[in-house]
Amino acid sequence: MACIRLVFSLILLAFFASKGIEADTRAFFVFGDSLVDNGNNNYLITTARADSPPYGIDYPTHRPTGQFSNGLNIPDLISEHLGMEPTEPYLNPLLCGKKLLVGANFASAGVGILNDTGIQFLHIIRIGQQLDYFKEYQTRVAGLIGSEQTQSLVNKAIVLITLGGNDFVNNYYLVPFSARSRQFSLPDYVRYLISEYRKVLRKLYDLGARRVLVTGTGPMGCVPAELAQRSRAGECSVELTRATELYNPQLNRMLTGLNAELGANVFVAANTYNMHMDFITNPQAYGFVTSKIACCGQGPYNGIGLCTPLSNLCPNRDLYAFWDPFHPSEKANRIVVQQILSGDNKYMYPMNLTTILAMDSRA
Ligand SMILES: *[C@@H]1O[C@H](CO)[C@@H](O)[C@H](O)[C@H]1NC(C)=O
Ligand SMILES: *[C@@H]1O[C@H](CO)[C@@H](O)[C@H](O)[C@H]1NC(C)=O
Repeated sequence: MACIRLVFSLILLAFFASKGIEADTRAFFVFGDSLVDNGNNNYLITTARADSPPYGIDYPTHRPTGQFSNGLNIPDLISEHLGMEPTEPYLNPLLCGKKLLVGANFASAGVGILNDTGIQFLHIIRIGQQLDYFKEYQTRVAGLIGSEQTQSLVNKAIVLITLGGNDFVNNYYLVPFSARSRQFSLPDYVRYLISEYRKVLRKLYDLGARRVLVTGTGPMGCVPAELAQRSRAGECSVELTRATELYNPQLNRMLTGLNAELGANVFVAANTYNMHMDFITNPQAYGFVTSKIACCGQGPYNGIGLCTPLSNLCPNRDLYAFWDPFHPSEKANRIVVQQILSGDNKYMYPMNLTTILAMDSRA
């Protein structure tokens, strides 16, 4: 690590030895795919990257950061609410010393629950590797503040994990007659995904996570990329919507089962499908001119290929629910995060983030 670790660790050691970690220090950890990647893929040899304009056009720096958004993404907005700096990509060499204490982002665009998801993107950080990095992170932090304080930091942290969408769009439905679709009927595939996801989440718990927001799959059938490929008149894809309708309720049941086994509400389901469908079915009510056409892209619905410097680009990103063929705009992300914070059980089960924060501040 090319960072000034030693100096920091000495200062920190003195600081924490005298004061202990501040009660309100709350780290934030992020795992998953492009919906939450803050730029890890910039450090990898992969085609799944968002490192050229117009990505980041509405970011405070107005430059691409590697995030798949015109501006802030869901983790940024959660950090903003927690009153913290955005989490840095774990692979950023500048993430070291004191900066580690606010958390880290391990997500990598293109990954899924399964190892064979996103293989066309080459070197991405599969979920098992993300968890290995989390372990490595804890060893590094223990070197700064000791292992007891590190465990407490991890136990108190808010964790966000977003996985599953790519297991459909970049695996099962990637090509007709994909290997997985020949191996499994859709209901069997969903059951398999859920059983594999359970192992991932159990491992996250074993690594110390105690407050974990788990998003279901979003509106996969309604994103501009799928409308361009599968839709005649702008209707959402029936197959992908069926996949979502099978997956999300089973995810909820699996999380409920895990919580029962652990004897605590560790895992909280965020129904991002319901959150998105509100503005997809009634975009005008949320200030959007359309939920079908991406701001940046080309072809029908601007849904073909990637968002590049040569793509069509809308002048006002706030008027579009989708920024590129797959990813919501910052404005849409703000609506989603508002529901994560204060939504009722239709959106957040068994409780919302505001309730979690209130409970933990009393604890
Ligand atoms: C995925 O790969 C990792 C690392 O090679 C391995 O430990 C894990 O068992 C694999 N998962 C599945 C579902 O095959
Ligand atoms: C969610 O959060 C709000 C506070 O913003 C609270 O009033 C509400 O009762 C919560 N809903 C649930 C279901 O926990």
